[in-house]
Amino acid sequence: MTDPTPDERATKIPLTLDELEEVAATCVRPAVWAYIQGGAGDERTLEWNREAYRRWVLVPRAMTGVQEIDLTTRILGVRASAPFYISPMAYHGEVHADGEPGVASAAARVGVLAAFGTLSSSSLEIIAAAQPQGPRWFQLYLQPDPVVNRSLVERAESSGYGAIIVTVDVPVLGVRDRQARAGFAIDASVPIGNGADVRPPARAPEGVAPRFRLPPGAGATWEILRELRGYTRLPLVVKGVLSSRDARKAVDAGASAIIVSNHGGRQLDGASATLDVLPEVVAEVGSSVEVYVDGGVRRGADVLLALSLGARAVGLGRPVLWALAAGGGLGVEQYLRQLAVEVATTLALCGRRSISEIDRSLCAPRRA
Ligand code: FNR
Ligand code: LAC
Repeated sequence: MTDPTPDERATKIPLTLDELEEVAATCVRPAVWAYIQGGAGDERTLEWNREAYRRWVLVPRAMTGVQEIDLTTRILGVRASAPFYISPMAYHGEVHADGEPGVASAAARVGVLAAFGTLSSSSLEIIAAAQPQGPRWFQLYLQPDPVVNRSLVERAESSGYGAIIVTVDVPVLGVRDRQARAGFAIDASVPIGNGADVRPPARAPEGVAPRFRLPPGAGATWEILRELRGYTRLPLVVKGVLSSRDARKAVDAGASAIIVSNHGGRQLDGASATLDVLPEVVAEVGSSVEVYVDGGVRRGADVLLALSLGARAVGLGRPVLWALAAGGGLGVEQYLRQLAVEVATTLALCGRRSISEIDRSLCAPRRA
């Protein structure tokens, strides 16, 4: 197949997710594409995230008289038009000029929760101004200087963010071969909109065998949640939990919700697929806090499988960036609307009317 010419590309409106991914690949620099798509190490966990969804089947109920589908739900008490949200992802400005503000206004137009990160290309205030009404969360990367942590959290609180996501799976960046080969380095050269004192996670520990040191701030303990609690009333959502043990510790330290995540396979290669860990985390803490999951969610069926296994909502990562690359904010809006239709269609085919009718009976392990 030959590459599309520019005018063919312009007229090729992606109809399916695979086509969207293909078009997006032609819209960003190769180094940025490697950064978006890449995982850590041999990318086993990246692959296992998707493969885990193939080990489950949906169990439909026929003739249930479904006439209307209602996708609305509540996420940390805030109404959302669908049980999925935009995961926090760095550097939207490297993907498309619309950047985080474009994603924010698209999410607000659809009524979907969106999370924006410490490493956004635009400041959290500019992002908030792009969607004053939309539900939005701020993702905090713990900074070496606690004063910077406090400033970011207080800025998010005064800009109307509804929760603080504390990402706990990046004491140091994962081994990112694909992006390194392509020449995309997360360092000072990539602009960060939240201020000159904001630091990205370090790429590797310092030192020589056998002694290595992680950067200051990397050695955080669950105590940090108690510190954050001390200066914000916002709910703390802990992202990057991959065991019931850590889920319990996070909740005991003050987490209001848990995101079962392996960072889209970008951090610890060899870690479990998130869908495989979700049930144990729900069993451990699901009766007291909301549990969300991200990683490998692509289709409406994936959303329903995750909800059936106990997730309250699911996080969308790479597909949002594909939509942003291919069509800016409007591309993201179209993608979100298309996914909502797919979730509604799948729910109808399963004989359920609403998100509240989803329970464990909706799925079963696929017979080998
Ligand atoms: C991410 N992710 C991420 N997570 C986070 O807490 N802070 C961040 O700055 C980023 N940055 C980031 C950049 C890019 C390019 C990607 C693809 C991902 C992880 C993200 O929030 C989420 O956990 C995964 O992307 C979910 O997996 P899928 O949907 O991409 O398979
Ligand atoms: C990443 C970091 C920045 O996944 O979260 O690239």
